[in-house]
Amino acid sequence: MDEETPKAKYWGGVGKDSLPGDWPGSVGGGTGADLLAEIRFWTRIMKEHSMFIGAGLPCDRTDLIRRAQEFEERFADLEAKVNRATTLTPNLLRALREAVRDLIEFKHGLLRMMIQCQLRPNLYPLLIDHVTREAVHFLALIELAAETQPGETCHLHMLLGRVVFWMRIMKEHIEFIIHLLDPSERALIRQAQEARRTFVQLLQTAMELESMAEARPQFFNTAARFVDEAIARTTELRDFKAAAYELLLMCQLLSAIPSPLLADHVRREADRAIVEMREIREHIPVRKPC
Ligand SMILES: [Fe+2]
Ligand SMILES: [Fe+2]
Repeated sequence: MDEETPKAKYWGGVGKDSLPGDWPGSVGGGTGADLLAEIRFWTRIMKEHSMFIGAGLPCDRTDLIRRAQEFEERFADLEAKVNRATTLTPNLLRALREAVRDLIEFKHGLLRMMIQCQLRPNLYPLLIDHVTREAVHFLALIELAAETQPGETCHLHMLLGRVVFWMRIMKEHIEFIIHLLDPSERALIRQAQEARRTFVQLLQTAMELESMAEARPQFFNTAARFVDEAIARTTELRDFKAAAYELLLMCQLLSAIPSPLLADHVRREADRAIVEMREIREHIPVRKPC
């Protein structure tokens, strides 16, 4: 029946037998409310991607602009529904899954045309790739939420894979910011370039630790230390994005950033990354040396 609430397929422990199995992307131990909050977050993000794409398309491609606007309306409608919902019904999950799948297909189509030089929008190809990866991440969450069976054991490797996802997203945000700031904004560009160097290294390390976790160690203290560092640096980046948003609102920043909303969008994603990495950190098995 549609009105039944599906049980989320939360992830199991990662070597700590006493840990409750939960979804590391959710706050507070994997309740339905956490999953709903996460779905609300990503639904809004999908709506905004559609807006940004629509605003960056060439004005003579009215067909594509119309499609982007249709996606914006579809996700605005879904956003209103998920904001009203107190539980995730199978109908709602199905509608979300179909919309996200369609949006992924649309984004892939745009990227294909850009790669083949058949479309030259005011959007970087890497930005389209980036927002597609975010949509794929959301689709995986929806599919997890739709499952009614208990989850598989969550391995350290999977947890660190999520850190890799977020470090890559954060690194790319900085790269987009650098390319959108006016060349006269030298101090901010320098600050962003420093952040870029930090996140290139964090991404590299995250990938290496993820690979090492394939050895299935019983505990991984270094990975826990690394995630602490990643949280600290992401918090600084979040503050940088929040400051850029304020400057844009006060008309004190020269840039090609199409709307202050874009700065707010990437700031919210940094907040989400911090929440998820805190959860992940709690699940990394740590042991004191004998
Ligand atoms: Fe995004
Ligand atoms: Fe993003």
